[in-house]
Amino acid sequence: MANINQHFLKLQSGYLFPEIGRRVAAFAAANPEKAPHIIRCGIGDVTEPLPQAAIDAMHKAVDDQSKRETFHGYGPEQGYAWLREAIAKVSYKQRGIEVEADEIFVSDGAKCDTGNILDIFAHNNTIAIPDPVYPVYVDTNVMAGNTGDARTDGSYEGLVYLPCTPENNFVPQVPTQHADLIYLCFPNNPTGAVATYEQLQEWVNYALANDSILLYDGAYEAFISDTSIPTSIFAIPGARQCAIEFRSFSKQGGFTGVRCGYVVIPKELRGRDAAGNKISVSELWKRRTGTKFNGASYIVQRGAAALFTDEGLEQTKSLIDFYLSNAGLLRAACMSVGLNVWGGIHAPYIWVQTPEGMKSWDFFDKMLREALVVITPGAGFGAHGEGFFRISAFNSRTNVEEVCRRIKRFL
Ligand code: MLT
Repeated sequence: MANINQHFLKLQSGYLFPEIGRRVAAFAAANPEKAPHIIRCGIGDVTEPLPQAAIDAMHKAVDDQSKRETFHGYGPEQGYAWLREAIAKVSYKQRGIEVEADEIFVSDGAKCDTGNILDIFAHNNTIAIPDPVYPVYVDTNVMAGNTGDARTDGSYEGLVYLPCTPENNFVPQVPTQHADLIYLCFPNNPTGAVATYEQLQEWVNYALANDSILLYDGAYEAFISDTSIPTSIFAIPGARQCAIEFRSFSKQGGFTGVRCGYVVIPKELRGRDAAGNKISVSELWKRRTGTKFNGASYIVQRGAAALFTDEGLEQTKSLIDFYLSNAGLLRAACMSVGLNVWGGIHAPYIWVQTPEGMKSWDFFDKMLREALVVITPGAGFGAHGEGFFRISAFNSRTNVEEVCRRIKRFL
């Protein structure tokens, strides 16, 4: 019998969102008359149609595949140059941020990238992870054998946790101890917090002083609506020497079902081999990508590139504005019943303290049973998420308005 990867056995319960789905399905099966009235604000999955520019570009790309002259087979491993150039120009250079097209690696999404990046790092790194946090960072480190066993509160031995609390406005402070790899995510999933230039500069200074690498998840940057807030870690001086950035079209262009994202690795970024030699991180990632990935499809990349046309940018902005308006309504509803609320201004997530100190899974059950609304329990994002819950603003306006009414009725 084959031996399995023993580290998987350390994982606590199922991955958060399937676990929520399982509980909701069980409730719906036991209460079939209530099932049609359940509104899902748990997983952050978009609901609105794709921007027309992306639809048109993908239709055309399908037609391209029907003729020998315009047919595309395997694409370049790093992604088509026309997409990487559009990203470099619009998402970075036009904002005064130095990123070249050949530093961009197009992929099928940021979730895979944030997990896969561990392939190119050793297992003896000290890894710092904010708490609460997008569960993929912790779980993929457990799977890779980078942690010890789970503790009773769901945290893992061997990781350095960076508490995110109301006291620090959910922006973690740099630790006093050394860490080699540090995950950061802004706008944050799940808290919706954003970091200022000064706060990110502290992280970059820490990383430079400690020879660390920041793994910066910018999947929600399109939701930043204030120019005083950095949209990229590479807007911070020194970050090119110490950071990798992950980006996604899932939330920017509504691509959760289309699948496309990218990783940015500056050419000057270096890690160290066992003998102490400096090694190009970008070259390792290129090697990894060439071996394990054949690229996002031509059709999908055409759709992504269309988001950077004038028409695509305008349509994307309306989509983001729509979800941000939803977030504003949900924030206001929670505040109107006296709950403590964070996020939802530069992010599609509203982070809320449970009433009367309820445990977050108990609150999840209450909302499901009484209000027929699915939220995400904060404890699913880490021990410091206990006592909080997240509401996703990705929904139709009708559903959001109904959720607001139910919040006011049941809380
Ligand atoms: C979330 O709800 O946190 C996200 O949609 C999950 C994801 O992006 O994988």
